[in-house]
Amino acid sequence: MSFDKLVNWVNQNGGFVSPKLAMDETDKNNRSMYAKEKINSGEQLFLVPPLLCIQSNDTAPPEVPLPIQRDYQLIKELLKQWTLGDKSFYEPYLSYLPSYSSFITNPMYHLYFHRQELVLVQKISLYAPLIQQKLSQLDLLIQLMLNEPIAQQYSATTNKSLQEGVLYAYLLIHSRSWNDFGLVPIADLLQHTYKSTMFLEPGTKMVAKVEYEPGQKIFDNYGVIDDMLLYLGFSFYETKENDMVELSLPPYDKKETQLDQFKVYWLSQLPHRKYVLSSKEIYPPIIHYLRIVSLSDKDMSRIIWNDTKPFYENLISLENEVEVIKQLIYLVSKAKNFNQEMVDEANKTMQLFSPSSVHYHFAKLTLVHEKIFKNNIEVLLQNWLGILQVPFDVKMTLSGLFK
Ligand SMILES: C[S@@+](CC[C@H](N)C(=O)[O-])C[C@H]1O[C@@H](n2cnc3c(N)ncnc32)[C@H](O)[C@@H]1O
Repeated sequence: MSFDKLVNWVNQNGGFVSPKLAMDETDKNNRSMYAKEKINSGEQLFLVPPLLCIQSNDTAPPEVPLPIQRDYQLIKELLKQWTLGDKSFYEPYLSYLPSYSSFITNPMYHLYFHRQELVLVQKISLYAPLIQQKLSQLDLLIQLMLNEPIAQQYSATTNKSLQEGVLYAYLLIHSRSWNDFGLVPIADLLQHTYKSTMFLEPGTKMVAKVEYEPGQKIFDNYGVIDDMLLYLGFSFYETKENDMVELSLPPYDKKETQLDQFKVYWLSQLPHRKYVLSSKEIYPPIIHYLRIVSLSDKDMSRIIWNDTKPFYENLISLENEVEVIKQLIYLVSKAKNFNQEMVDEANKTMQLFSPSSVHYHFAKLTLVHEKIFKNNIEVLLQNWLGILQVPFDVKMTLSGLFK
C-alpha cells in the first residue's frame, strides 16, 4: 500500500513511475524491485523531478569541516522533515524508508555502539583507520547538530534522541543517496549488482538496459566500488569473480611545459573517477591513466590518433609501457601493506566468529583484498618480464623484487 502511495506522489508531482514496477517486501528490512510485466530494453522505468529529491543546497556553518558538510546538510534536512511529520511534503517518501532497526547489520552502526571491538578490527583490517575516522566524523556531526535549533525541535516532537536521529539519517544517506542528486525516491529502492549496466541518469531517470521477464528482479549499478566501502555504507558486498579494492593514483598537476598541459588535459577527459585493482584483470583505466602520465616528448610523435578509440587505449611505445608497468608495480606494492600477522588473524577470526558477525566479514574482505594484491603483482611481474623479453623461464616474486 505505501509503495502505491509513494508512486502516486511521484506521478502527481510531475514524475513518472512505470506501472510495470513492483516491490518485493518479503524481507521488510531489505526490499527489492521487480518487473510485474515484461519490460523491454530502452523502456523508461521512472523519472523523478529534482523537486522530489532531498538535496543539500544551503552551505553548512563555518565550523563544519569540509569532508562532512554534505552529510551535515542532508542530516539537518532529514531532521527537519521528520519534525514536520505528517505535514512534510516528503511524507510518502519518508514513511517508505527502511526503519532505524533495519540497520542493525550495518558495520558502522555496530561499531558506533561497540567501540571496544575496534581493537580486533585493527588486527584484521587495513580499513581500521578509515573506520575510526568515520566514527569520529559521526561523533562530530552529532555534537555540531546540537547547535541547530532543529535539534531540540526534533527531539521534542518525535520523542527520539538526537543521537538516534543523526545516526539514522547518516546511515540512510550513506546507503541510498547520490552525490549529484541527493536522496532520490524510487531510484533508491533498487538493489545493486556489479553486473548491471543501468545507472541513474541525468534528469534523475532510469532506463532499462536489458529486457526483464515478469517476476524478474531489477538491479542497478551503484558504481565501481571497493568491496569494503560497499560493506561499510551498504551493509553487504558481493563476492564474485571480479572483486575490487580501491587504489589511489598520484595526482598529476604540473603545468609547466606544453607536454604537462597535454597530460593534464587528457587526464581530465578520462571517464573514470575511481581506480580499483580487480581480481579479474589489470583494470584498464589504471593503464590508461599511467600511459598519459608517463608520456615523453618522443612519445608525442608516436601517438596514433583515430576516431574510434582514444589514443591511450593503444600501446604508445615500449618505453611508455615499461614506465607504466614500473609505476604500477610500485603503486601496488606500496598499497599492499598487509603483513602475514594480519592475514593469520583474519583466518583465525573467520573460524572463531559467526558468519553473520561484522568481524567475520571484515576478516573475509581482508583475505579477498590480499588475494587481489597478490594476483595483480603476479600478473604485473609477468608483464614486466614479457616486456624485457627475458629468453628463459624466470619466476619473480614481490618479496624477491623488494628485498
Ligand atoms: C538503495 S537501497 C536499496 C533498497 C533497500 N533494499 C530498501 O529496502 O529500501 C540499498 C540497500 O539495499 C540493500 N542491497 C542492495 N543491493 C543488495 C544486494 N545485491 N544484496 C543484498 N542487499 C542489497 C542493502 O541493504 C543496501 O544498503
